[in-house]
Amino acid sequence: RPIALEAAAESARPAALGITQRPRRNRKSAWSRRLVREHTLTVDDLIWPLFVIEGTGRREPIASMPGVERLSVDEIVRSAEHAARLGIPAISFFPYTEPSLRDATGSESLNRDNLVCRAVRAVKQAVPELGLMTDVALDPYTSHGHDGLLQDGAILNDETVALLVEQSLIQAEAGADIIAPSDMMDGRVGAIRAGLDRAGFRDVQIMAYAAKYASAFYGPFRDAIGTQAALVGDKRTYQMDPGNSSEALREVALDLAEGADSVMVKPGLPYLDIIRRVKDEFGVPTFAYQVSGEYAMIEAAARNGWLDGERAMAESLLAFKRAGADGVLTYYAPRVAERLRAGA
Ligand code: PBG
Repeated sequence: RPIALEAAAESARPAALGITQRPRRNRKSAWSRRLVREHTLTVDDLIWPLFVIEGTGRREPIASMPGVERLSVDEIVRSAEHAARLGIPAISFFPYTEPSLRDATGSESLNRDNLVCRAVRAVKQAVPELGLMTDVALDPYTSHGHDGLLQDGAILNDETVALLVEQSLIQAEAGADIIAPSDMMDGRVGAIRAGLDRAGFRDVQIMAYAAKYASAFYGPFRDAIGTQAALVGDKRTYQMDPGNSSEALREVALDLAEGADSVMVKPGLPYLDIIRRVKDEFGVPTFAYQVSGEYAMIEAAARNGWLDGERAMAESLLAFKRAGADGVLTYYAPRVAERLRAGA
C-alpha cells in the first residue's frame, strides 16, 4: 500500500475506549431493531372519529383538517365498512348539527332521530362487529357552543348532568357500545352509569374523558362541527388548566369510582406526561385523543413539504403507546391502518 494511505489509516485509528457496552450493536440492522423494540402500534389500538352531516352521498371537506371530511349517514356506513375491513376495532361519531336546530339548551341532543342516533343505527345494522362510541356533551347542539347549560355566563353543572344522562340513554338505545362523556361536568359519570343501569344498559361501557384540558388544539374540531364562530367565551371553568398534572389523577380517580370502564387523556402529544402518570397510578385502560389541532399541525407541515407526514404520523402514534396508552383516538386511523397492513 502507498505510504500515504498507511499513515492516514494509522492516524484515523481511535484510541481504545475501553467500553463493554455498545448500545449501537442492537441497532445495527433492521432485524435486530425489531427484536429489541419495546412498544409497537397495531391496528387494535385505533379508534376513528368521524364527522356526520345531513343529506345523502355527501362528503364535505373541512378546511382546517385537510384529508378529513364531514360525511352523510350513508357515507359514514361506507367508512365504517372500510374501518372493519382494515381491522379497526371502533369508531366514534361527532355531528355537525344544522344551525337551525341549535338552541340554548341543546334540545336536539335529546332527539331520538338526531344525526348521531341515525348514524349509529345505520352502522350497527350494516357492520355489527364494529365498536360504536358516542360523545356525550351539549356543544354540537347549543347555540352558544358550550358543553353545558349557560346561565348568566356560568355553566350549570347539575342541571347539565341531568340532560347528559338523557342524551346517554338515547345513544345507548340507538346502539352505542361506548358512551364517552366529553363535557367535564362533575359527577356525570356516576349519574350516567346509574341511568344506564336503571334502563337495562348494564353492558354499555363508559369511556370518560377524565383529564380533558382547556386546549387551543381543539380549534379545527370546532370548525368541523360548526361551533368555533358561535362559542361565547372559553371552556376554562370546566375543562382542566394546562398547568395542572396531579389534578388529572384526581379527575381519573373520581371517574373510576363513579363507574368508568376506561379513561381518556386529551389532547394527546402535549400531555404524554399525564398519560404516563395515569397509567402508572391506576393501571386501567387508558386512551389518548390525538385531537384535531395535532392532526392539523402534522398535515400543515407535511403539505408544505416541511416534514415527512407519513413518518410523523406513525411516530406520533407510537409515542402514545410508549407513554402507556392502550389506544388512541385519531383522525389518522384508516391511513395508519393501511400503513400497518403494508408492513411499514
Ligand atoms: C366537545 C369536544 C371537543 C372535542 C371532542 N369533544 C372540543 C371541545 O371541547 O371544545 C375535541 C376533539 C378534537 O379537537 O379533535 N365536547
